[in-house]
Amino acid sequence: MNIFVFETSLEASQYAYDLVAKALESGASTFGLATGSTPEELYSIIRDSDLDFTDAKAVNLDEYYGLPADNDQSYAYFMKKHLFDAKPFAQTHIPNGTATDVEKEIEDYNTILSENPVDLQILGIGSNGHIGFNEQGSPFDSKTRLVDLTDETIQANKRNFESEADVPKKAFSMGIGSILESKQIVLMAFGENKAKAVKETVHGEVTPNVPASVLKNHSNTVILLDKAAASQLDPS
Ligand code: F6R
Repeated sequence: MNIFVFETSLEASQYAYDLVAKALESGASTFGLATGSTPEELYSIIRDSDLDFTDAKAVNLDEYYGLPADNDQSYAYFMKKHLFDAKPFAQTHIPNGTATDVEKEIEDYNTILSENPVDLQILGIGSNGHIGFNEQGSPFDSKTRLVDLTDETIQANKRNFESEADVPKKAFSMGIGSILESKQIVLMAFGENKAKAVKETVHGEVTPNVPASVLKNHSNTVILLDKAAASQLDPS
């Protein structure tokens, strides 16, 4: 796991952009994408760039269960707004939050993932150490499934909803096992509220209690931090 600390999230996002551009130039065809506030600057830099994804595919980590793609809090909506409208991909895949046959949706998403191995996966991290919506205790070999969001995640994400009651309690999430199959992983974390999860990920043991800690078992993971997120790291 290589860790880089930047003065600002914008500088870290610029570095992430350079990794994406390099991967694309080297023939990467499938990008694993995250939503949330963390990758917003990266997507903004990509939107303003001349990168061309028209031959590439995107697979997203997760989607709230119960939200249709045209709901402005759905991750499908987020991706359109922040990236896909400006940068069309040949294919984009996000779990269907309103799937009525949940088992089939899960099976189909796992088939998409096995047919489209991810070359570069963008990740954020929850303040509880989650990656995707793989909350504490998620098995390291997990595949796509419907998960219960923890109270901490609901609290963290309620800022985007009118009230806490509107935050979905479940989500489809790519599993940790699938995330680990990505050839390259770029995890970004910004802000003081991520500092503890970053410290536990970097300095703690590899444990399902801190899902991101499993990234130590991945041979090509880069962690990009701003100073605040790195503030609890051992300087050495
Ligand atoms: C989003 C996702 C989540 C977020 C995490 C951090 O697709 O998979 O793991 O990356 O909850 O969210 P933000 O970036 O909003 O702090």
